[in-house]
Amino acid sequence: MMNDKTKNATLSFHGKTYELPILSPSVGPDVIDIRKLYGEADVFTFDPGFTSTAACESDITFIDGDKGELLYRGYPIDQLAEKSHYLEVCYLLLYGELPTAEQLEAFEYRITNHTMLHEQMHYFLRGFRRDAHPMATMVGVVGAMSAFYHDSTDINDAAQREVASIRMIAKMPTIAAMAYKYSIGQPFIYPRNELDYASNFLSMCFAVPAEDYVVNPILSRAMDRIFTLHADHEQNASTSTVRLAGSSGANPFACIAAGIACLWGPAHGGANEACLTMLREIGSVEHIPEYISRAKDKNDPFRLMGFGHRVYKNFDPRAKVMKQSADEVLGLLGIENNPTLQVAKELERIALEDDYFVSKKLYPNVDFYSGIILDAMGFPTSMFTPIFALSRTVGWIAQWKEMIGDPTQKIGRPRQLYTGATERDYVDVEQR
Ligand code: CMC
Repeated sequence: MMNDKTKNATLSFHGKTYELPILSPSVGPDVIDIRKLYGEADVFTFDPGFTSTAACESDITFIDGDKGELLYRGYPIDQLAEKSHYLEVCYLLLYGELPTAEQLEAFEYRITNHTMLHEQMHYFLRGFRRDAHPMATMVGVVGAMSAFYHDSTDINDAAQREVASIRMIAKMPTIAAMAYKYSIGQPFIYPRNELDYASNFLSMCFAVPAEDYVVNPILSRAMDRIFTLHADHEQNASTSTVRLAGSSGANPFACIAAGIACLWGPAHGGANEACLTMLREIGSVEHIPEYISRAKDKNDPFRLMGFGHRVYKNFDPRAKVMKQSADEVLGLLGIENNPTLQVAKELERIALEDDYFVSKKLYPNVDFYSGIILDAMGFPTSMFTPIFALSRTVGWIAQWKEMIGDPTQKIGRPRQLYTGATERDYVDVEQR
């Protein structure tokens, strides 16, 4: 295929030539438009894992994997993590611009006033087994929101789409905290409107009715940063799942529940839990070489959790900020020397020098450090992915809304390279 950047790409195939338009993004590589290819040439393209395929047009988030750059609506993630805060970032992702002070105040007010869950949902939640993984509870409860909030399920009504969005961003911390409280047998703690978003989440997770709970501002800031760093990440697996579910016209609660289900996997959001489990399993620095050689062994499915990324091939800019946050939190809590952290630091040092990891461009990703912070804050590993899910909710919603508003949007319907049997006649069971 010849790629003339000023005009079209040309595909020569079975003696014929096809002109394919080239679309130019505002930044990033050009995109060859193959939408008419099947109709004109009767041929599919093959790209399992979507490594070379842009599935949509989007103006929300940009990643340059080689530079290690992540921009939300053009703003670098490190600037947002340092100068902004999660709800301002939510506004930015949802509406495209940073809010004025008035817009921010009104937005925060709306979110704060939607944090409580319909009381009947408490009974619904109590139907789960106590030992259910909080992600299992979240998938179920978020999906069930369409039954409790059916007045915001009409995707063709912009006002309903907006209310559904606000409801999910506001209620997700409440749901995650309730899933946690339920799993440890403690009473649910209601949201407190005088607290900011991150402090409120910490309070709902760690307060008990029997005594006052004062949120530590450093921990609350670290929590807010974790939310901000995970808020969106362009067309990753869970976001693409939300878009695919939404492309059929499914209601927003169902779409976000689908995203949560996809996020759960250890190759995606489940990596933060898997990473800490792995660090604990390694146990002490003497065992690291054994795990490094397992990770390199082609016949061993083991991978170093928290290392590598489909897009970042230099460094993960979120990991940089998260590492700094980890140092702050662990310093504050005076646990710089805990054994898990020692294993993590040594593993990081060895992997960054080891030729296997260097040559394959496998660097610590955001999940390598986030688990360490969350563990230090007192969260069990099972809560790591629910926290990722609550942070990513705004990204899923922004992408879902963008898709619904796109006039060229169609139901997502990939094709396949069929390798099964060709047509054959049915054989009666007696003759088989
Ligand atoms: N440990 C050991 N080897 C690895 C690892 C790892 N963590 N990751 C990739 N490799 C090797 C892999 O075996 C392959 O080797 P070869 O070329 O010899 O076959 C090569 O590196 C390329 O790997 P890949 O699987 O083709 O790369 P991918 O882009 O499909 O996968 C990934 C990306 C993130 C799924 C993968 O790196 C991985 O499984 N990492 C561990 C899980 C993890 O930390 N995931 C969190 C990602 S960040 C949070 C998020 O966005 O969800």
